[in-house]
Amino acid sequence: MKKFMKFILCIVPSLVLTVHEAHSNDAIKHPPLGLLPPVVIPANNPQTPAKIELGKKLFFDPRLSGNNWISCATCHNPTLGFADGLPRMLGGPASKEGGRNTPTIINCAYNELQFWDGRAATLEEQALGPIQNPNEMNETLDSIVKKLNSMPEYVGAFKEVFGTDVTANGIAKAIAAFERTIVFANSPFDRYMMGDESALSESAMRGMYLFNTKAECIKCHSGPNFTDNNFHNIGVPADGPLKEDLGRYDVTKNDADKGAFKTPTLRNITETTPYMHNGFFPTLFEVVQFYNGGGGRSENKSPDIHGLNLTAQEVNDLTEFLKALTGELVHVKYEPMSLGYPNLPDGF
Ligand code: HEC
Ligand code: HEC
Repeated sequence: MKKFMKFILCIVPSLVLTVHEAHSNDAIKHPPLGLLPPVVIPANNPQTPAKIELGKKLFFDPRLSGNNWISCATCHNPTLGFADGLPRMLGGPASKEGGRNTPTIINCAYNELQFWDGRAATLEEQALGPIQNPNEMNETLDSIVKKLNSMPEYVGAFKEVFGTDVTANGIAKAIAAFERTIVFANSPFDRYMMGDESALSESAMRGMYLFNTKAECIKCHSGPNFTDNNFHNIGVPADGPLKEDLGRYDVTKNDADKGAFKTPTLRNITETTPYMHNGFFPTLFEVVQFYNGGGGRSENKSPDIHGLNLTAQEVNDLTEFLKALTGELVHVKYEPMSLGYPNLPDGF
């Protein structure tokens, strides 16, 4: 009977929609939620244990920054859901507040495009950006390559992994290889999908059904990583140092993209508060209420964002389902490392 219920909860939305489709163009067509497939590894950057280890070392090393005290992990901190817990990032030599919220890198291997506006296509392309950004790590590639080439530990590791001295290209490839191991799954949702009927509470199960139907979340947060890898304007109010953030428009110059941001994954969402591209909402409850009330105001708001008429119980159920999406690191064992100031070698 329970098996049947599970079948009903997961499949019925699509069955109903199949029937519904015959009558209306409004049917929600979407890739269904489900278990994550294996990560696709690009042919020009195969994974090897030594490369992943090197990428991990680089990711946690503040010496990649101009003043030797900001690492990738300063903002993508594993103890803060691989983000920073702040509304907007603080970076650069003066710890200046930036315009955008630090997204988690959990499951970033599944992103079709990187950044809130999708301006980088691959993790390799993305990795060298923050190093050179004056508001983030504020270092030049020339200087970093020189710096790392003076450290025998890196010279040896690059020889082993790439057969070369330290190069910017190698730094990008190793960091990307490490990031592709930050895969989180085995959440209560995943365990439920694998057949453990007790993994989700009754409330979370009702929330899952709402997610796929009345609440329409599945229109954008679809597929195994809960994102359509697309861009939408949902009307999040401006907040922080930027008066206006045009989002995807800055990349495409297409009017339809004004104020549109990438649909983020909802996996491990409990760990990456605050929410949205500018960290506007501190809690999931507020996010769900925002959608329930029809999103924010914007001339360019997506037609898929409108009032949902969810009851208080339904808002609660939906929030319970979101909480059940938090899983654990599955592909590699992560050992916590000190994120404090390292003992720098002489000369740094
Ligand atoms: C000062 C804080 C800071 C540092 C340091 C930093 N990042 Fe980020 N990271 C951000 C912010 C903010 C964004 C979003 C920027 C945007 O979308 O415009 C981001 C975006 C990303 C993304 C895209 C994720 C997604 O879902 O689109 C990846 C991947 C990433 N960073 C990896 C790295 C790596 C690798 C390093 C080190 C080389 C690094 N970051 C250093 C703040 C930081
Ligand atoms: C029209 C597409 C669309 C629909 C429908 C939609 N979302 Fe979103 N969602 C987005 C986009 C785009 C963002 C990021 C917006 C921004 O930052 O400006 C987002 C952000 C979020 C965030 C914050 C994630 C983070 O890491 O900051 C949560 C949580 C969320 N949505 C949950 C939901 C829920 C629950 C529903 C259903 C009630 C829903 N969404 C419906 C597109 C959508």
